[in-house]
Amino acid sequence: MRRNLPPKPPAADASPTETHIWRTLKLLFPYLWQYRGRMLLALSCLVGAKLANVGVPLVFKKMIDGMTPGQQMLALPAGLLLLYGALRFSTSLFTEFREIFFARVTQQAVRRIALEVFRHLHALSLRFHLERQTGGVSRDIERGTRSISALISYTLYSILPTLVEVSLVLGILITKYDAVFALITAVSLTAYVVFTVAVSNWRIGIRRAMNDTDSAANTRAVDSLLNYETVKYFNNEEYEARRYDEQLRKWEDAATTSQVSLSWLNLGQQAIIATGVTAMMWRAASGVVEGTMSIGDLVLVNAFLIQLYVPLNFLGVVYREIRQALTDIERMFDLLTVNREVADAPDALSLPTGPLEVSFDTVAFAYDKERPILQDLSFTIAPGRTVAVVGHSGAGKSTLARLLYRFYDVGGGQLRIGGHDIRQLKQSSLRAAIGIVPQDTVLFNDTIGYNIRYGNPDASDAQVQEAARAAQLHEFIAQLPQGYEARVGERGLKLSGGEKQRVAIARALLKNPPILIFDEATSALDSQTEKAIQGSLENAARGRTTLVIAHRLSTIMDADEILVMDAGRIVERGKHAELLASEGAYAHMWLLQQEEESHA
Ligand SMILES: Nc1ncnc2c1ncn2[C@@H]1O[C@H](COP(=O)(O)OP(=O)(O)O)[C@@H](O)[C@H]1O
Ligand SMILES: [Mg+2]
Repeated sequence: MRRNLPPKPPAADASPTETHIWRTLKLLFPYLWQYRGRMLLALSCLVGAKLANVGVPLVFKKMIDGMTPGQQMLALPAGLLLLYGALRFSTSLFTEFREIFFARVTQQAVRRIALEVFRHLHALSLRFHLERQTGGVSRDIERGTRSISALISYTLYSILPTLVEVSLVLGILITKYDAVFALITAVSLTAYVVFTVAVSNWRIGIRRAMNDTDSAANTRAVDSLLNYETVKYFNNEEYEARRYDEQLRKWEDAATTSQVSLSWLNLGQQAIIATGVTAMMWRAASGVVEGTMSIGDLVLVNAFLIQLYVPLNFLGVVYREIRQALTDIERMFDLLTVNREVADAPDALSLPTGPLEVSFDTVAFAYDKERPILQDLSFTIAPGRTVAVVGHSGAGKSTLARLLYRFYDVGGGQLRIGGHDIRQLKQSSLRAAIGIVPQDTVLFNDTIGYNIRYGNPDASDAQVQEAARAAQLHEFIAQLPQGYEARVGERGLKLSGGEKQRVAIARALLKNPPILIFDEATSALDSQTEKAIQGSLENAARGRTTLVIAHRLSTIMDADEILVMDAGRIVERGKHAELLASEGAYAHMWLLQQEEESHA
């Protein structure tokens, strides 16, 4: 059954097309070209090994001719015997030296490419990462890098040596004997290769069908067993077995076809070889009978043929592996061609040091075009001042922080820092200028000290402790058996929400940036700890341009301006007292919270 292929089949074993193969090789080439010196050495070793290999039958022929009755030798052919041994050894010597020269090239290409993909993934937008599964991406990298080694070794250790050997043998046959020998060899080799590639291409489809039916059968079995109880409730064991067997029968067909096709492949290959060898030996034997060739020549031709066909036996496997490797590498390189949604302008600027003004100028933004999130949003935070934002969950408050960090570009209007549109700034400079305590904190699976120091990897132990003190975290850490060396578990799951939040506060303080964002920075804390930290946060905010996204209004009473957001728009703005006096949404929220607190 033929299916129409979708534009880009996502299956892992999808086969690459010719243009894709060239594109992949072109991308890979620069990494290898950097080591052209070593590559040249490795290639000379390869040629050396093959020269030695081809030399063996030549020496062997000389010895045989020397010992043929009628041309009695006077002594043992000591020189030839030693040469024979030396040539055999040089084959391995050159082969191993090729490996010695080339090992680093392959591994370093793997390293560089893996690193480049990693850097690129970090440069891609948040949007990309929210949509892709990290597990899938890392599998693509892993398979891609592994395939680079496979591709290089199959090419360098299988294809190229065979090509060199074939040309050497053809050259010797042409120069030493008549061209008919070379012709027979060339024709049978070509037939062999064409046949193998054609049959292998056909078999790739068969193998894929076999793998697909295998997974399908497996999925059915697992799903059925997971529903063990349901199957019993409805007494449907027979029904389940029948459904499973349906899939198994498909698999049986596919697996049989695969097995049979392999036998046909082998048979066809051997038939071609047998025909070629017979024709050659026929020709050589006639030569001996006619007296134009010696027994040694006969042995030589036979040895060449056997030597040539041994590596060819692997051709089917090598061909399939190379195709698979190219597919995997292509998938990895595909990641590299995902465009950066947010990229530095060529003439991007760096921010000056010192306090900076932040201003949103009629900003509009949407994650998806169909659903606008922010609309016509304007406000300015003067250098060193504090603006607070309040509003319901989903109003778009955290989105303001994501835009400031330039995880996304605004859809309309402008976002300026220090008077520059942030799209004109270097992203590294922009992000260095901002410290954030995010709404949700995820920690690295390392020690608590490491996680705090992440705010400034160069900080001294004393600075780390100072930041921890300001975040009301030092005492908690001090009573841990391992102190700052205590591990926080995956994503920081061994810490409570409030402890994680205080780690986030400590590392934002340690970063010591001119702009601070607190996104509900104390929401996970009890009100007592919150009060204790509040002082530190106010201290930290002094002299810095600060955006506070608040959940508890009592924490922002002193802000220079308070914005009330609803559905992506600013619906009220002013100082605390003004907003209370105007008796709008803010005043309402304030009353509700006061009431809650008096009941608490
Ligand atoms: N990556 C995203 N893709 C699509 N929609 C998003 C994304 N992140 C947030 N949103 C939506 O944007 C709206 C505003 O989110 P956010 O700024 O986090 O609100 P909040 O005011 O609670 O901090 C929400 O309705 C949310 O569902
Ligand atoms: Mg939020």
